[in-house]
Amino acid sequence: MAEPEVFMISTHFKCRGGTYPRSNIQRFLVPDDKISWSTQYNDYKPPNYTEPALNGKPWADPDLGDSTFKPKWNNIDGKISRKSYMGDYHIVNGYPLNPIGRTGLCGRGILGRWGPNHAADPVVTRWKRLNSGEIVLDNTNKPILQFVAIKRGDTGEWALPGGMVDPGEKVTTTAVREFQEEAINALVMSKEEREEWTNKFEKFFSEGEVVYEGYVDDRRNTDNAWMETIAYNFHDEKGSIVGALNLHAGDDAVGVRWVDATPDMSLYASHDSILKEVVKRHLGIGKS
Ligand code: BGC
Repeated sequence: MAEPEVFMISTHFKCRGGTYPRSNIQRFLVPDDKISWSTQYNDYKPPNYTEPALNGKPWADPDLGDSTFKPKWNNIDGKISRKSYMGDYHIVNGYPLNPIGRTGLCGRGILGRWGPNHAADPVVTRWKRLNSGEIVLDNTNKPILQFVAIKRGDTGEWALPGGMVDPGEKVTTTAVREFQEEAINALVMSKEEREEWTNKFEKFFSEGEVVYEGYVDDRRNTDNAWMETIAYNFHDEKGSIVGALNLHAGDDAVGVRWVDATPDMSLYASHDSILKEVVKRHLGIGKS
């Protein structure tokens, strides 16, 4: 794996203001200049919300304050990583503090973990081609990059087929597993075809490049729990491996398709920023 070259994601837009997902809780207003914890905001009184159904879920932490729960903040805690890509986060009155700043809500919301919640996102790309195999150019004569997108069941937005890292799982494994689960399993294939694909995939998916690791502007984030992800690009230059997968553009019915990567894309969470970085790496677009 290549060393990640970190770029910044514009943060704290989707996770500020409005109603918190799957609840009727209104976030406390946080103006742009009051995001940072180092800026005084004496009137800041965010509501406290932790989804009661998280209680007892095997993938979720117990409540803070439960005397048997002694998380190792900023560390690998058994099989769970409580380390942030953003460096050490602060613990205030026993609660981990969002490394970017205020979100207008304290508690854990609907996230399973206090502090960082780790995901991994595969960005699977190919060049757009005609049936003849010829690469399609856009109106500026540049080749068009396509990526595999899925339609998320929860928000209906197009997204990378990512998911949460299971305890003890290697993050590369998560990215590949999620791709198989979310993109491939949605397709109708015979057992033989599936096995053939799985074999071809193995090498392809061992050659990913890290394009982002860090905080994600996710609507579920709170002052004490937030999403982080690592995104890997798996590029099929010749279009002969994953690129040959027959995902029809507009295949909304199965909720997975090849999408042209354009500068004005709007995708789930921080996925559009991740995609823009991938486009930049392949096409040099946006480089100053
Ligand atoms: C999604 C990932 C996403 C992460 C952060 C996870 O639930 O599956 O694709 O990057 O949340 O928003």
